Amino acid sequence: MNTKAIIYISYHHKNTIKLLEDAFNKDEYDFYNLAKTKEDILLDQYEIIVFASGIYFSKMDKRILRFIEENLDKIVNKKIYCVITAGWNPKHYARKVKRYLKKQGLEDIEVFSCPGYDTYGPLKLIGGVNRKRPNEKDVFKLKEFILENKL
Ligand SMILES: Cc1cc2nc3c(=O)[nH]c(=O)nc-3n(C[C@H](O)[C@H](O)[C@H](O)COP(=O)(O)O)c2cc1C
Repeated sequence: MNTKAIIYISYHHKNTIKLLEDAFNKDEYDFYNLAKTKEDILLDQYEIIVFASGIYFSKMDKRILRFIEENLDKIVNKKIYCVITAGWNPKHYARKVKRYLKKQGLEDIEVFSCPGYDTYGPLKLIGGVNRKRPNEKDVFKLKEFILENKL
């Protein structure tokens, strides 16, 4: 039985899930794609939960945010981390996610942020931004983050 879970949504170019799968040890973590999973996620068994998604319209995916809000009482005493990928200024969005979590009563949550290939809207016309991101260096940085935080 795993005591660590990753709850994610990643659909634009699968940037976020590729990064997660390359950096986290899949034997230690239960992965839940919140866009697909039908089962109830039994949060009680987990000590560490990583929420992850791309940034869509300046926020993490709405379904992730709703899940956090609906399960606040169950996650408030666990070790929570976030991983995000974004087309523009990922660090800005990391700060935004932190502020959002703080508002929910989740203080000092570490958020790992990374550029992700983005062809949304007019960006498609110029071939997108952040081609080939996340890349090996991004995976390396996330692995460092995992080690530093004893994830
Ligand atoms: C509908 C949509 C809205 C987006 N909005 C933003 C945004 O507000 N800011 C930003 O930096 N990137 C934005 N992006 C780019 C994504 O955050 C980026 O491509 C991310 O890596 C996608 O992750 P995914 O491939 O795991 O879904 C948007 C992408 C889509 C498809």
